[in-house]
Amino acid sequence: MAVDYLTLDRTGDKMPLRGFGCWKIEKKDAENTIYQAIKIGYRLFDGACDYGNEVEVGRGINKAIKEGLVKREELFIVTKLWNTFHSKQHVRTAFDRQLKDWGLEYFDLYLIHFPIPLQYVDPAVSYPPEWYVPHADKLNFERSPIHECWAEMEKLVQAKLTRNIGVANFNCQAILDLLSYSKIKPAVLQIEIHPLLPQERLVKWVQEQGIQVTAYSSFGPTSYVDLCESGKTYSSLLANADVKSIANKHNVNTGQILLRYALDRNIAVIPKSVHEDRMKSNLDILNIQLDQDDRKILNSLKTNQRFNDPMIFGFGLPLFD
Ligand SMILES: NC(=O)c1ccc[n+]([C@@H]2O[C@H](COP(=O)([O-])OP(=O)(O)OC[C@H]3O[C@@H](n4cnc5c(N)ncnc54)[C@H](OP(=O)(O)O)[C@@H]3O)[C@@H](O)[C@H]2O)c1
Repeated sequence: MAVDYLTLDRTGDKMPLRGFGCWKIEKKDAENTIYQAIKIGYRLFDGACDYGNEVEVGRGINKAIKEGLVKREELFIVTKLWNTFHSKQHVRTAFDRQLKDWGLEYFDLYLIHFPIPLQYVDPAVSYPPEWYVPHADKLNFERSPIHECWAEMEKLVQAKLTRNIGVANFNCQAILDLLSYSKIKPAVLQIEIHPLLPQERLVKWVQEQGIQVTAYSSFGPTSYVDLCESGKTYSSLLANADVKSIANKHNVNTGQILLRYALDRNIAVIPKSVHEDRMKSNLDILNIQLDQDDRKILNSLKTNQRFNDPMIFGFGLPLFD
């Protein structure tokens, strides 16, 4: 049987290669969507404080556990520390709230969502706090160095509250710095990856450091249509003629080709869908065998176009330059 997980350094935990993303699942749908996803066979769930649905996602998980569909130890739960909680006095409190919201005793992986320390916002005032403090029209940064934040992340591991810790949206420079002082190195880097933005050099280097990689937004622009600059349109990767021709050749859909493309690079995927047929097909990617011709075509799609970019969202922060 094809290998279906990546092994994490230090703990040896097996992180499923095929997971389920929770961004943009509306609160009203979240419990049932997650419950269905577990029924269909998903075992990894990727959440975040910023997605605003951790309580409901947690309910779906706990319902499935309670009904005996799955045991907690068979699941791999990932969530993320939001930008406004980087300071050493806020990491633990923010984490505790998230753990309570999910209704769990531990996470499998806790990630720093962005290397962007933003001014603290009291959860009583606004939760999730999003990007701007209330009534501000620009980002307000906070003097919270990542090394202090990381030390707090390490304490969460020592307290057995999360099994692994990692980062998202960090570049080589930020990871190199982190590796220079961390006692526990990041187990995973989660970044945007699809054929338009393969990030092959970063992925290769990160994997060489013993850090596993998870791709988000495997379908390219699909989730960003409503977030893009006004007047601008993105052409769909799911409807791309080249991707379609490969999908037809293998008798699968284009989404499956885009997900398989990541798996072939030892990169985990976390597609999100609220539709059962898509949930099923997004999981059914283990037996697709892309050949050299397919890979050549997919590699030729590279444009380095990025969609999850604070510059595009109008924040004036060239995070990835
Ligand atoms: N760390 C970060 O900064 C970061 C950033 C972005 C995302 N993420 C994580 O990565 C996950 C996935 O990324 P994403 O949400 O950007 O996008 P995605 O999974 O690439 O795309 C989701 C979109 O594609 C549609 N879709 C799903 N499967 C499909 C299929 N087989 N055919 C056609 N359309 C399909 C979904 O619509 P329906 O629901 O209507 O099917 C939804 O609109 C997120 O949920 C989140 O957990 C992390």
